[in-house]
Amino acid sequence: MERFYDTSPYDGFDPAPYPDDLQGWGWNHEIFEEAIGAVRPKVIVEVGTWKGASAIRMAEIVKSLGLDTRIICIDTWLGSEEHFLGLRAEERISLRRCHGFPQLYYTFLGNVVRRGMQDIIVPLATTSTQGAIILGKAGIRPDLVYLDAAHDYPSVLLDLNSYWGLISDTGVLIGDDYIGWGGVTQAANEFAMKTGAPIFGELGKFMMCKGNAVRARISMVRT
Ligand SMILES: C[S@@+](CC[C@H](N)C(=O)[O-])C[C@H]1O[C@@H](n2cnc3c(N)ncnc32)[C@H](O)[C@@H]1O
Repeated sequence: MERFYDTSPYDGFDPAPYPDDLQGWGWNHEIFEEAIGAVRPKVIVEVGTWKGASAIRMAEIVKSLGLDTRIICIDTWLGSEEHFLGLRAEERISLRRCHGFPQLYYTFLGNVVRRGMQDIIVPLATTSTQGAIILGKAGIRPDLVYLDAAHDYPSVLLDLNSYWGLISDTGVLIGDDYIGWGGVTQAANEFAMKTGAPIFGELGKFMMCKGNAVRARISMVRT
C-alpha cells in the first residue's frame, strides 16, 4: 500500500452511502482456491475488479490459508463496453453514474471495507496498460495475475502481452470468460501459440503457468 499511497485510500472512507452490492461473474470458481493454494502468492494482481467480488473471494482464500498476500486491483472503475451498451438495464444501472460518471470505485471500496479486507486489497485506479507499466517500474512481480478487464480481442491480447512478462518465474495467469467470449478465446489461444506456453482451459476460465512445478497441483491442468 505504501508503495502507491501516502495515505491509505480507505482512510476516512464512509461506506454508508454505497449499498452492499457484490455483483460479479465467475468469482466463485474453484480455480482460485486451487491456484492460490498451489502458488501461495505474495502478490496477486487482478486486472478488472468491478465491485470487488473476485478480489474479495481471493482475499478470503488468502486469509483462510494464513498467507501474507497483497492483492493489487487494477481497474479504471469506469466499466466496459458491455456495461454501457448492454441490453440489460441492470448492467447500465449498476454503473451508478452520477452526472454521467460511474461511481463503481466507491461501491468497490464499500464492499472491501464492510468485509474487513483493507489490509489485503490495494486498489490502483488506472488503465490495464498503465497499471502494467507502473508495476514494472515499481519492480513488482506478481505470482498470480487474474485477467478480467475488457473482453474484446485487441484489449485481451494487449493485456496478455502487458502482464505475462511481469509474472514471477513460478507464477500463473488466470483469465476469465474463456470460450464464452470469442475475443477472449481467440486472444488467449493466439498468445499461447506465440509464447509457446501451454494453455489449459474450460468454459469460463483459462490458465497459463510459468513454472512446471505448479502445473501438476491444479486440477484444470490435469484433466
Ligand atoms: C467483467 S468486470 C470485472 C469483474 C470482476 N473481476 C468480478 O469477477 O467481479 C470488467 C472490469 O474491467 C474494467 N476495465 C475494462 N477495460 C479496462 C481497461 N482497459 N483498464 C482497466 N480496467 C478496465 C471495467 O471497469 C470493469 O470493472
